[in-house]
Amino acid sequence: MKAAAAKQAVTVAGLRARKGDVPIVCLTAYTSLTAKLLDEHVDLLLVGDSVGMVLYGLGTTIGVTLEMMIAHGSAVTRGAERALVIVDMPFGSYQESPQAAFRSCSRVMMETGCAGIKLEGGADMAETIRFLTRRGIPVMGHVGLMPQSVHIAGGYRCHGKDAEEAGRILADAKAVAEAGAFAIVIEGTVEPLARKITKAVPVPTIGIGASPACDGQILVTEDIIGLFSEFTPRFVKRYAELGRQISAAARAYAGDVRAGRFPGPEHCFGVKKKKEKGKG
Ligand code: KIV
Repeated sequence: MKAAAAKQAVTVAGLRARKGDVPIVCLTAYTSLTAKLLDEHVDLLLVGDSVGMVLYGLGTTIGVTLEMMIAHGSAVTRGAERALVIVDMPFGSYQESPQAAFRSCSRVMMETGCAGIKLEGGADMAETIRFLTRRGIPVMGHVGLMPQSVHIAGGYRCHGKDAEEAGRILADAKAVAEAGAFAIVIEGTVEPLARKITKAVPVPTIGIGASPACDGQILVTEDIIGLFSEFTPRFVKRYAELGRQISAAARAYAGDVRAGRFPGPEHCFGVKKKKEKGKG
């Protein structure tokens, strides 16, 4: 199998077949502009419900609505040409019953044009995942740290340190894979457990704070480019400091406007540019 840079569109089946191959590259995207910039570099773009914290300033992902996910999902599918676009299902839109989940997920797929959805949950969600996948909805699972359950889990902590919890998360991942998920995100989990899950399930595992033992990696784009600096988790590597650059650009613009340096004649309509000395 060829490495990630191949130009053809990434499909759910193609991504599933990448188990144990060259690591799968995933990033989040919430806008068309970001999707366009990332598209050629990644295999998968996730329209994560982290959008609530990153773009809307929410304290957790729990306040994110189906309408928000549909708006951002549509924007991302308009910007992406080859990466697989997967949209996160927000809290409250899928947990009630497999039927309610089908209604929410089919809306997301029909209204955004995405290739599949992601939902959080382990063994408890297996019946729903089976129901969805048998009805044509590709599902990406999400186990370990599950931000929508942060209040039950006792905060954003690393999971799988004790044997009982590790056993539960392994069973969760197996149940999700067995129910038909085409890939599984493992979040905030100790390396030995991520390694064990990756060996145990037949589908690719995508880690976020879950070590290189996974079949692929995902991070929040705004974290790696230094835009979301409220809090930087240990597992994030910064590749740019755009937050600082934006601040410097705004400072320079404000200075220019206040000093009358902007706009100059070259930025105006109907104003002749001053002739350069010695010319004409
Ligand atoms: O919402 C999100 O961004 C996620 C991650 C896995 C990055 O679920």
